Amino acid sequence: MAKSVEVLNMCSIHAPGLDSRLKEHFHVHRVLALDLPPEAKMSRALIAGGVGASAQLMAQLPKLEIVSTVGVGYNHVDVAYAAKHGIVVTNTPDVLSDDVADLTIALILMTSRKLLLGDRLIRAGGWKTKDPIFSTSITGKRVGILGLGRIGLAIAKRTVAMGMSVSYHNRNQIDAPYRYLESPACLAAESDFLVVAASAQPSSHHIINRDVLKALGPTGILINVARGSLVDEDALVAMLQNDEIAGAGLDVFEREPQVPAPLFSMENVVLTPHVGSDTVETRKAMVDLAVDNIIAHFAGQPLPSEVPESRTAHNR
Ligand code: 8YV
Repeated sequence: MAKSVEVLNMCSIHAPGLDSRLKEHFHVHRVLALDLPPEAKMSRALIAGGVGASAQLMAQLPKLEIVSTVGVGYNHVDVAYAAKHGIVVTNTPDVLSDDVADLTIALILMTSRKLLLGDRLIRAGGWKTKDPIFSTSITGKRVGILGLGRIGLAIAKRTVAMGMSVSYHNRNQIDAPYRYLESPACLAAESDFLVVAASAQPSSHHIINRDVLKALGPTGILINVARGSLVDEDALVAMLQNDEIAGAGLDVFEREPQVPAPLFSMENVVLTPHVGSDTVETRKAMVDLAVDNIIAHFAGQPLPSEVPESRTAHNR
């Protein structure tokens, strides 16, 4: 591979080894500010992740051929702009599904079994001096998955193994051994745990709104491992404050890294800082896949994971 190919690495998530792997093959510019230095502007590849690839950013890169994002979600990449300008877009699906599904299970257990409450009680020296922590069993409970894609399927497999039943809602019914429900509200009404695992699209913005949360009801728990934009966070906070839903396990937020302050004091809420894919093993796999996409592109080989809209635009 010609080391003369210039790659702009703007990835802002923790991606160990990314820069050194890129440097094995390319001439790398490592930039975090959106105001690009002149020498970076001739880059033919852009690594995104955390920071996105807006039209404004891509317009500064006249030689850009490929945007490779480190993450499965690519809502922060303007794919329409890329397609219009002949730029291909790749992401890192599959390699993170198991970890995100594991985190979902952790959030289900932490919220239902009140594990943080027990932890806090012990640390505060309160064991046995307080009322017992009476929690809720998950066996036999109903999980509703919004977005039965790769991650949703990995969650379904785990929850079934734990003795729970699974329903789902997608834009279209798929060939899967789980009950399909017509709408997010119907799904919520039939769920003890409503799990958000769908991708962020303009059409899924606030798909979990007040009505859906109302359908989930005062014994229901919301788990979000997808994107904050899918949930109307103000409605969620208000309904938690009024005991209109039972709790929430949240790995993602509407305005990351800001988290609504009222959540901090709620004992029925578990908060994690967008760590779904943040394991040593998975981040390495994501880095490898993101770099492999760029290598394949400049070698004229099929891309391991081009996003569907990009494939369609380029007739692949
Ligand atoms: C990343 C994710 O941490 O893959 C995704 O879409 O949400 C996570 O794996 C995220 O991309 C960081 O912004």
